Amino acid sequence: MSFPYQIRSVDQYKAAYEQSVRDPEGFWSSIASTFQWQKPWEKTLEWDFKKPTIKWFAGGKLNITENCLDRHLDKLGNQPAIIWEPNDPEEHHRVLTYRDLYNKVVQFANVLKNNDVKKGDRVCIYMGMVPELAIAVLASARIGAIHSVVFGGFSAQSIADRLQDAQARFVITCDGAFRGNKEIPLKSVIDDALVQCPFVERVIVLTRTRTPVSMIKGRDTWWEDEIKKVETQGSPDCPAEVMDAEDMLFILYTSGSTGKPKGVVHTCGGYMVYTNYSFVNVFQYQPGDIHFCTADIGWITGHSYIVYGPLSAGVTSVLFEGVPTWPDAGRFWDIVDKYKVTILYTAPTAIRSLMGFGLEPVQRHDLSSLKVLGTVGEPINEEAWHWYDEHIGKRKCPIVDTWWQTETGGILISNLAGVTPAKPSFATLPLPGIQPILVDENGKEVAGNGVSGNLCIKFPWPGMLRTTYGDHERCRQNYFATYDNLYFTGDGCLRDEEGNYRITGRVDDVLNVSGHRIGTAEVENAINMHTGVVESAVVGYPHDIKGQGIYAFVIFQGNMQDEKLVRLDIASTVSRIIGPIAKPDKIQFVSGLPKTRSGKIMRRILRKIAEGETDKLGDTTTLLDPGVVEEIKNGKL
Ligand code: WTA
Repeated sequence: MSFPYQIRSVDQYKAAYEQSVRDPEGFWSSIASTFQWQKPWEKTLEWDFKKPTIKWFAGGKLNITENCLDRHLDKLGNQPAIIWEPNDPEEHHRVLTYRDLYNKVVQFANVLKNNDVKKGDRVCIYMGMVPELAIAVLASARIGAIHSVVFGGFSAQSIADRLQDAQARFVITCDGAFRGNKEIPLKSVIDDALVQCPFVERVIVLTRTRTPVSMIKGRDTWWEDEIKKVETQGSPDCPAEVMDAEDMLFILYTSGSTGKPKGVVHTCGGYMVYTNYSFVNVFQYQPGDIHFCTADIGWITGHSYIVYGPLSAGVTSVLFEGVPTWPDAGRFWDIVDKYKVTILYTAPTAIRSLMGFGLEPVQRHDLSSLKVLGTVGEPINEEAWHWYDEHIGKRKCPIVDTWWQTETGGILISNLAGVTPAKPSFATLPLPGIQPILVDENGKEVAGNGVSGNLCIKFPWPGMLRTTYGDHERCRQNYFATYDNLYFTGDGCLRDEEGNYRITGRVDDVLNVSGHRIGTAEVENAINMHTGVVESAVVGYPHDIKGQGIYAFVIFQGNMQDEKLVRLDIASTVSRIIGPIAKPDKIQFVSGLPKTRSGKIMRRILRKIAEGETDKLGDTTTLLDPGVVEEIKNGKL
C-alpha cells in the first residue's frame, strides 16, 4: 500500500499541521477518501462540545473489516498479517496471511450469525492473546456487532459489571490462557460472572489450555464445533454489514474518578481513519516492516495498534501471548531476533522491569533489524529512555513517546519517527489535526511556551470518543463539563520553550499502575467490601518499576491478631473484585483519616505522606482532627 498522507519531513509536518487547523474538513476528507467506502459521506464534520455531539463522515457507509482485509487480498493476500508467538517458546508459532485471516474472520462471522448475533448486539470477548481474539474482534465488526473486549486479567465481578452495563447477550472466551508459568482459567471466571448475568444466551469457548471446564447445556458451545457447523453449511462468504460511519464499532471500559468504569464508545469511520493515519505517520511504516506491539488487545493500545491501525495499513504484526520475563527476561529480544522485528512498541514499565535484569538477556540476541522504537501508557523517565535508546535501539532507532488515551482512539501527541525530533521524557508535538491547549483551574488558557497547566483539546479529531455507553450525560460530565467547549484529558502537562509537550500525569483521582488506568474510588470500593474494613482511602506513590504504586490507608475494626494476614486478605479481596492489577502495594492501618469539617477526605495530605514528602503537608488546621495526621505520618510504611 502507499500512503499519500505519510509525512516525510519537518516541512511536510508543518504544512500538514497548518492545513489541518485552517481547513480540518478538507484535511481529513482527503485522507478518508483513500479508504474503501461503500457510499461516500455527506458531511465531513458536525460538532458541538457542549452536548457533546461529534460526527465525522456522517452518512458515509463502510465496513472497517473491508478496509483491514478485503482490500488487501489482491496485492497482499499471501503476506503475513499476523505472526503469532505463543507463550512457550517451545510451542510452534503460527502465521496467518491476509488471505488466511480473511477466511477465518468470514468463517467466524458466520458462526456469530448462526448464533443469532445481529448488528448492534454487544459481544463480550474475554480471551488470552491468541489469533482467535483478533478474529473474534474482526468477525464482530464484520457483521456490525459491537465488541467489548475485557482484559483477561479482570475478575468475574469486573466482567459481570461490564456485561450488565452493555447488556451483552454473547460471550466469547477460551477454556484458559497461558501467561508465563501461569494458567488462567478464563472459562471458569466467566462462569462465576454469569451467575449475575442471566441474560447471557450464548458462550462460545475456544480450546487453548485444555483446562477442564464445565459446559452449560443450551448456553455454552465450543468454538471448534461451531466452525464445523459452518463448514458443513458450505458458505465461505460473509458479506460485510453496511455500517454508517457513526455506527458504534466497539465499547472499551476504562477507569475514571468514580467507582464504576465507563464504556468508552468508538465509531466505525473516524476511528478507522485516525488509527491508520496515526500509525502510518508516528511509526513511519514502510512496506516490509514487521511491527511488534507488546500490549494486550484487552487495552486500547491493542485495539488501535495491533488490530485496526496496522491491519488497515496492510502490516505484518507480531501477536505475543506471553509475558516479557518468562521463561527469562530475554523474551522480547528473542522475538525481535526471531521475526526480524523492525518496529517495537511497548510500555515504560516493561522497559524498567527488563532493565533490572542487566544486559546479558539483551546481548544474547541480534536486534539489528529494529528501526523504530515506541513507548506508550505512562510518562517515560529519562533513565529508561536512555537505556532503551542505547541498548535496544543501539542509538540508531528513533524513539516515539506516544501520548494518548482510551478516549482519544489513537495517538495525539508524539514525535514522528525520524522525521520530527525526539526529546527524552517529552511526547513532543501534536499530530496534524490535534489542537492542544493548556488551561489553569479556572479554565483560563495558559498561553505561550515554558508553561504548564491542565491538558485539553479544543477541536475534534476523527478518532475521539463519541459517548460513554448507555449514559451520554456521564460522557459530558467527565470530559466536556470541566472546561467550557474543551475536551479535558485529565492529564497535567507542561510545554517547554520550543512548544514540546511533556505529560506529567493525571490530575484527577486516577492512578497509572504499570501503564494501566485504575480509579482510586474503584480500589476503595473493593477494599471496603472486606467485612473488617470501616473506611479506606487510596492514593498513588512513585514506584520504581510500576511508575505508580497503590497505597491504601485503611480503618479496620476486625480481628487484627495477624496484621500480615489481614493485609493479604484485603489484597485478595481487591483481586477478587477487580483483578490482580488493582492489588494495593502498601496497606497502612490507621485509626482515622484526615477529613475536612464537611467530611471530605483530604487526599492531598495522604498523597504527600505516601510520597514521603511529610514536610510538605501544607495547612492542616482546617481538619476535623489534625492529630490524626501525626499518627498517619508516624505509621508510614
Ligand atoms: C497516560 C493508554 C505520559 C496518561 C494509551 C493518559 C501517558 C493515560 C502516555 C491513558 C505518555 C499514556 N506519556 N503519559 N506517552 N501515554 N499516558 O486510557 O495519563 O489506558 O491519560 O490509554 O495514560 O491511559 P489509557
